[in-house]
Amino acid sequence: MKFFIDTANLEQIREAQDLGVLDGVTTNPSLMAKEGITGRDNILKHYVDICNIVDGDVSAEVIATDFEGMVREGEQLAELHEQIVVKVPMIKEGVKAIKYFTDNGIRTNCTLVFSAGQALLAAKAGATYVSPFIGRLDDISTDGLNLIAEIRLIYDNYGFETQILAASVRHTMHVLECAKIGSDVMTGPLSSIEGLLKHPLTDIGLAKFLEDYKKGN
Ligand code: G3P
Repeated sequence: MKFFIDTANLEQIREAQDLGVLDGVTTNPSLMAKEGITGRDNILKHYVDICNIVDGDVSAEVIATDFEGMVREGEQLAELHEQIVVKVPMIKEGVKAIKYFTDNGIRTNCTLVFSAGQALLAAKAGATYVSPFIGRLDDISTDGLNLIAEIRLIYDNYGFETQILAASVRHTMHVLECAKIGSDVMTGPLSSIEGLLKHPLTDIGLAKFLEDYKKGN
């Protein structure tokens, strides 16, 4: 299972990278705005900065919602760095753009996916990743994890190679449940990764080992 961090914050990206378990980064326009990164040039530079910190894939989202605009932006993003994956929204023009990018050797992440039908379309268009937003489904009393299970079943039925990228992950239980279901990737905040570290018995056990060591030395 790949671990991506869902942020545009360079410090947090560095921290996750230093832990040694990071496989990539996802961003979106809201995450960029949260870090105060505005203006096309600054945004493009920020993507390159992120690519220079991590080894894996970095999702960079198009803003256009028409086919020509998405293609223009996506090609520009893909040329920035070999690690860039073009993030395209699940709309009609987006499906066409994903198919175009697939045919032209540009990797894609189909974002804003909230149903199995949308995920099936993304796979048919050849998306590299599909991003079901599980936290946002949970927010409206719909089981986000169930969507991951449905997509897993459908993709396995037909051998689709599109990787399921569980997005809008909010906490460690999302990560664990996604791992059990067989999601290929999860993207979440740093806390959802670091939270996996924690167990009180680890802390108690380590304190006791150190105490006993000191007694004998
Ligand atoms: O990867 C998608 C993500 O950025 C959305 O997360 O927490 O805003 O629902 P959230």
